[in-house]
Amino acid sequence: MTTPQHIRLADYTTMRLGGPSRMVTAGTADELADAVREADDAGSPVLLLGGGSNLVIADDGFAGATIRIATAGEDRCDDGDTVLLDLAAGENWDDLVARTVDDGLSGLECLSGIPGLVGATPVQNVGAYGAEIADVLEAVEVLDRSAGSVVTMGAADCGFGYRTSVFKHSRQYVVLSVRLRLTRSPLSAPIRYAELARTLGVQPGERAPLGEVRAAVVGLRRSKGMVLDPDDHDTWSAGSFFTNPIVPPQAVPDGAPAYDAGDGLVKASAAWLIDHAGFQKGYGNDRVSLSTKHTLALTNRGGASTEDLIALAREVRDGVQGRFAIELTPEPLLIGCRL
Ligand code: EPU
Repeated sequence: MTTPQHIRLADYTTMRLGGPSRMVTAGTADELADAVREADDAGSPVLLLGGGSNLVIADDGFAGATIRIATAGEDRCDDGDTVLLDLAAGENWDDLVARTVDDGLSGLECLSGIPGLVGATPVQNVGAYGAEIADVLEAVEVLDRSAGSVVTMGAADCGFGYRTSVFKHSRQYVVLSVRLRLTRSPLSAPIRYAELARTLGVQPGERAPLGEVRAAVVGLRRSKGMVLDPDDHDTWSAGSFFTNPIVPPQAVPDGAPAYDAGDGLVKASAAWLIDHAGFQKGYGNDRVSLSTKHTLALTNRGGASTEDLIALAREVRDGVQGRFAIELTPEPLLIGCRL
């Protein structure tokens, strides 16, 4: 573990927002677990820092212990037609996806181009283009902070739902490694997302070559400003800022896209609601605005503070509430600030 450094969290988040903190870097799972235990014993709050792509941190920074996850390692083990991959939490997510696609392992291709680290993916059950990490996750090795011990949790214990899990709202667990089960196949899992199927020229439910799916997903994400690019302020974001609200079908305004969400409910498009409440692409000012490519991403135009961002987020949330009586919930983790 490194000695503590004084840093500005803005240098470690994709929004480039967040004030000062004291940070150590953990290079192994043992160092990570020890750093958390040490902070817990000292009664110090902990901020776990991975790729910083789903964090909104206050301008005041974080007064507790910031622990940066820099662990590495991948083990593979054949199991019939499938392969089990054990991955350190600090592995880069998209590098992993690229490797699996190159190696003819099917299951992650629709999750291409997503920023961040492997260990963050179970936390909010990362999903895109009809796939989510819960589809392929076998188990997660975690530090249970209440017991101070390392335990393995099966997928059924993780409480996965749409952009949520037991890890999202509880501070009890720290993800140390993730076990995925992928299938040996040159073809993708069945394509479920209509826009992706159209782009690939296949019918929903059909499969396509892994490399083509990865390229199509990265292309779609890039067109929406969802692939990190330091020169493009549309990507200085935390991805989707709000989750798509799950509501009764009668609450969905005429013309708004909505998809079955089970239990008689539907998932309405937050991007559409924002757009039609009067907040078009690019809405905002020269410090913070909606992305010029997608209304669901709130972006830092260069000189933003977290306070600016929160003000815009409140304006959008309140505007949608006023126009459509639907409450939008933020998707990133808010540290030291709230809407
Ligand atoms: N739309 C607008 N205006 C816009 C953009 C989109 O009205 O500026 C409408 C369109 O009608 C479009 C619909 O919104 O058809 C849905 O848009 P999109 O396909 O981009 O998907 P999304 O629901 O906005 C979700 C995820 C993304 C994920 C994409 C693709 C959430 C909160 N967001 O976005 O995930 O990449 O689907 O699967 O579920 C993220 O979580 O950070 C993220 C980027």
